Amino acid sequence: MGSAAEDHPKNQRQGSSSRKCQLKMILLVILTNLLTIYIFSGASFNLKYLSAYTHHLPLPLWDSTSLSDQLNSTVTQLAASHSLIAELHARLNSTNLLVQALLIELARQQEQKDDTHDQLLSDFMKIDNDELIQAIGSHKLPLGHSPRTGSDEIYPSVGAGCLRFQEELTQYMKYDIGGECPVDDVFAQRLMLKGCEPLPRRRCHPKSPVGYKEPTPFPESLWTVPPDSSIIWDPYPCKSYKCLIDRKKVPGFYDCKDCFDLKGREKSRWLVDNGGLDYSIDQVLETKPRGTIRIGLDIGGGSGTFAARMRERNVTIITSTMNLDGPFNSFIASRGLIPIHVSVSQRLPFFQNTLDIVHSMHVLSNWIPDTMLEFTLYDVYRVLRPGGLFWLDHFFCMGSQLNGTYIPMLDRIGFKKLRWNAGMKLDRGVDKNEWYFSALLEKPMT
Ligand SMILES: *[C@@H]1O[C@H](CO)[C@@H](O)[C@H](O)[C@H]1NC(C)=O
Ligand SMILES: *[C@@H]1O[C@H](CO)[C@@H](O)[C@H](O)[C@H]1NC(C)=O
Ligand SMILES: *[C@@H]1O[C@H](CO)[C@@H](O)[C@H](O)[C@H]1NC(C)=O
Ligand SMILES: *[C@@H]1O[C@H](CO)[C@@H](O)[C@H](O)[C@H]1NC(C)=O
Repeated sequence: MGSAAEDHPKNQRQGSSSRKCQLKMILLVILTNLLTIYIFSGASFNLKYLSAYTHHLPLPLWDSTSLSDQLNSTVTQLAASHSLIAELHARLNSTNLLVQALLIELARQQEQKDDTHDQLLSDFMKIDNDELIQAIGSHKLPLGHSPRTGSDEIYPSVGAGCLRFQEELTQYMKYDIGGECPVDDVFAQRLMLKGCEPLPRRRCHPKSPVGYKEPTPFPESLWTVPPDSSIIWDPYPCKSYKCLIDRKKVPGFYDCKDCFDLKGREKSRWLVDNGGLDYSIDQVLETKPRGTIRIGLDIGGGSGTFAARMRERNVTIITSTMNLDGPFNSFIASRGLIPIHVSVSQRLPFFQNTLDIVHSMHVLSNWIPDTMLEFTLYDVYRVLRPGGLFWLDHFFCMGSQLNGTYIPMLDRIGFKKLRWNAGMKLDRGVDKNEWYFSALLEKPMT
């Protein structure tokens, strides 16, 4: 998930900063002028004082030479004063002009501020794409339909990151309106993972799989691998579910490698509590009065097996997952469970104090930058109801991070520890100080 932010020019920032620079220059010039006026007015005060003083001098009327000298000096002084006044006047004039210029500039900026969003968009959109502007630009509400927003305009939501990837975004929005969308799942998801989440909506139809059949009825669907005809395979390296199931035997790293094999490891997950890192669903549910854990979320839930097991216990779990190298979302839906295509970067789409349980296995780990993780954990806290459970399942980290970073972070957020297990991961018997911890945390009742 590398960032490609570096190679994108930040035109609009440059524009506004050069305008700021101009403003600063103008202000500087005004200041210098005011300073000069101040100094000069000080000097003219002295002159005035001087001339007043001379005025009261007894004039030696009898001495015409002296009189003429006096007059001459007064005339010279007057001339000097006069030119000073002229100078001051000119400076005041130029200061006035500058103040005027400043006011005009300020007014212009204010005007611009009013349509910053559209300005931003049109600045960014080097390549013309009307559909993109339609998809993320402002729309006027019908008359009298703005009481709840205080605005007569509405902006469709897109991730702030979208504006950094103008070229990709423009490509994403290239299609025939009303026609078929390009099969660009991988491209679109990469855009999401770079921060363009949520993606803009599109006015096209996703391609339908050929030969789609009605899904397997519930509850058999929970443990049935759907037919290959249920999805479009183009975006994936595997072209069948058999290939996905068999890839666990293939060396190499794949996300959730054995998740699609419902007859393998998936079948026994969360059924046995080993007293260590592996908790069982039944043990966890027993920490609360029967039936009070009813709804929840599994963050990064792979192929949906956690939700399936919870469903068997009458608990409704929504599973967030990415389609990394495989059709995870479609697979979960085929099982009769609810997938949501939301990454760990996005604010959870739930209201505060609502969910009974949030579970996450392997996904929340030390690959997430600390501050971002803290925001994520606060978000989990937010959506849990008081007394709700946060089951942090197999969180991976280095030994020093355990005590140095994660335990203090969880305490800081305010979770109460109901159960805590930490254990070293032995990699072929070699101690690499790699740790896992599992925790059952509770949001306090008050
Ligand atoms: C005033 O002084 C200047 C020189 O400082 C001289 O040239 C000029 O003739 C004088 N004028 C009178 C009226 O004395
Ligand atoms: C001040 O500016 C006005 C026009 O802006 C001009 O008519 C006037 O001559 C200027 N005065 C001076 C002293 O420069
Ligand atoms: C789930 O709910 C159904 C219908 O209310 C009930 O018959 C069943 O016993 C429940 N299962 C569990 C495991 O609680
Ligand atoms: C963390 O601290 C506890 C005591 O506070 C200690 O027993 C434990 O060994 C430490 N764990 C690691 C991985 O350093």
